[in-house]
Amino acid sequence: MQKEEIHFLRNVPIFADLSDKELERIAKLGTRQKHKKGSVVVIEQESGAALFVIISGKVKVVRMDESGREVILSIFGPGEFFGEMSLLDGLARSASVVVTTKAELFMIHRRDFLQMLHDYPSIAISLLAELAMRLRKADMQIKSLSLKDAAGRVANVLLMLAEDVGFFRKGKVEIDELPLQQDIANMAGTSRETVSRMLHMFAEQGKIELKGNKVIINDYEAFKKEYA
Ligand code: CMP
Repeated sequence: MQKEEIHFLRNVPIFADLSDKELERIAKLGTRQKHKKGSVVVIEQESGAALFVIISGKVKVVRMDESGREVILSIFGPGEFFGEMSLLDGLARSASVVVTTKAELFMIHRRDFLQMLHDYPSIAISLLAELAMRLRKADMQIKSLSLKDAAGRVANVLLMLAEDVGFFRKGKVEIDELPLQQDIANMAGTSRETVSRMLHMFAEQGKIELKGNKVIINDYEAFKKEYA
């Protein structure tokens, strides 16, 4: 069990610089949790007691807008973490986090997490780099949501996904496992029908290719220049 945990922790970017011994210590600090699809791990406005690292599966970070519609702020997968904000600033949870597939999480209590940042500055530095990246994405999302036209909003979500999970090759970007159209709509602040219409429009214009739940942006730089 312990060995398995160390193997997993080694592949978590914020722990990348730690030795085996240090990873062993962290493995002992946390506990594993299994979650069913749909389970709500973090609830907006509650107080924060722990940080979570994803061992397997996916989660979505959500907030409700004024009309009760879900806005997806981010989607995280294996090796990524969430729940750090309220531990760092002592305020309430900033959003809810919902498991979207069967998932396994590694939970570290607040006190242990804060101690870990003191003991291992390399974790604190990686965490800051990741938070900077998240702020950049949030900036992109703010811009996207402030756009009036649907094409721009949907294109911006594709650009965010490309930077997040895309494979870049010869000027093209391939995004495997595109989120559901409803999820893209919730990221873009538009309807599912509009997302479908925009994706087909981009495909007809030759800007993207749609293959099942895979999408290829044919000329990433041109697409970015037009929409970002
Ligand atoms: P916390 O506020 O403790 O609980 C909700 C978590 O969602 C938060 O910590 C972050 O880990 C995550 N989160 C909140 N807002 C964003 C965002 N805009 N982008 C990515 N992750 C976020």
